Amino acid sequence: MDFEPQLKLGLQNMWYPICQSAGVKEKPRGFHRLGQDVVVWRDSVGKIHIHEDRCLHRGAKLSVGEVVNGSLRCAYHGWCYDTSGQCVTIPTSKTAQTKLAPRLRLRSYESQERADLVWGYFSENADEPAPPLIIPEELEDPAYSGFICEAVWKANWILVLENLADPMHGPFLHGQSLTLGRGALEDDMRVSRNDAGFIVEREGQRGVNFDWSEFYCDDSLWVRLDIPLPFGPKGILRILCFATPMTEDSTLVYFLRYRKLSGWKRAYWRFLYKTFWEKQHFKVIEQDRVILESLRGAQSRMAEHLANSDRGVTELRKLLREKIACRTAQ
Ligand code: FES
Ligand SMILES: [Fe+2]
Repeated sequence: MDFEPQLKLGLQNMWYPICQSAGVKEKPRGFHRLGQDVVVWRDSVGKIHIHEDRCLHRGAKLSVGEVVNGSLRCAYHGWCYDTSGQCVTIPTSKTAQTKLAPRLRLRSYESQERADLVWGYFSENADEPAPPLIIPEELEDPAYSGFICEAVWKANWILVLENLADPMHGPFLHGQSLTLGRGALEDDMRVSRNDAGFIVEREGQRGVNFDWSEFYCDDSLWVRLDIPLPFGPKGILRILCFATPMTEDSTLVYFLRYRKLSGWKRAYWRFLYKTFWEKQHFKVIEQDRVILESLRGAQSRMAEHLANSDRGVTELRKLLREKIACRTAQ
């Protein structure tokens, strides 16, 4: 038993968050995303570029190198690449500089910086232009204010997504938490499709716990959900979730926690987030991490028995299968 091969390392032809913008300064950074080594670097005007992290000379990681005069220079023998990935300098050989360099170009990934994250477009065909990147509107709406929470979990990204399609785990796994302990333990679930995904919601309660989630799955994949906060100040915490596969057994997860607050309430929440809420939320996602890492990867599906309360999980699997079929047909 295994996950669908087209899904294991992420859906192709999609935008994924690669890292936080603040994490890429003057030094290039290397990351493993969707099973690929990529180098993320800033040119002389600070624009982000993403390429395969493999020098075309002997294969050294370019992320070990540096940015010199707006080019990415390999640390091993000094070969340089411009922002398009074109090899522009081979300092060790005049002949290679003239004859070889013009023929060498690194694979490039289209990139964007949005919502303080670096996004990369992963496509099967490297020359294919990327579609527009759609991210949740809250992230660029000045009425909202938020924080980024980043973690790496040793679980396949599908399990991370399935966890987000499963509101009924809230009052059990997080039953002792400050934010997710309330509400009934039994409920029916309703699923409704929309243009780009679906909403899964509890029929019996709303605004009490993690009672619904919305999946957006087009050229990017993300999940929106609300957690009612009991105080500090009382009201809705909106969470926008992203999962970027690293390997078949590890995932980079982002929870962007946003609130629609202004004035002193915004300042109060931002202060409390740093001094109090962040630790509480971290305890909750640690519970998710431990459970997902206990699921034994794809084997988790071998002996499972899904119930009516798992309708979100079933719908997500259906949606992803449709996505694969649609990509295959194209
Ligand atoms: S391996 Fe990069 S310059 Fe030699
Ligand atoms: Fe959870």
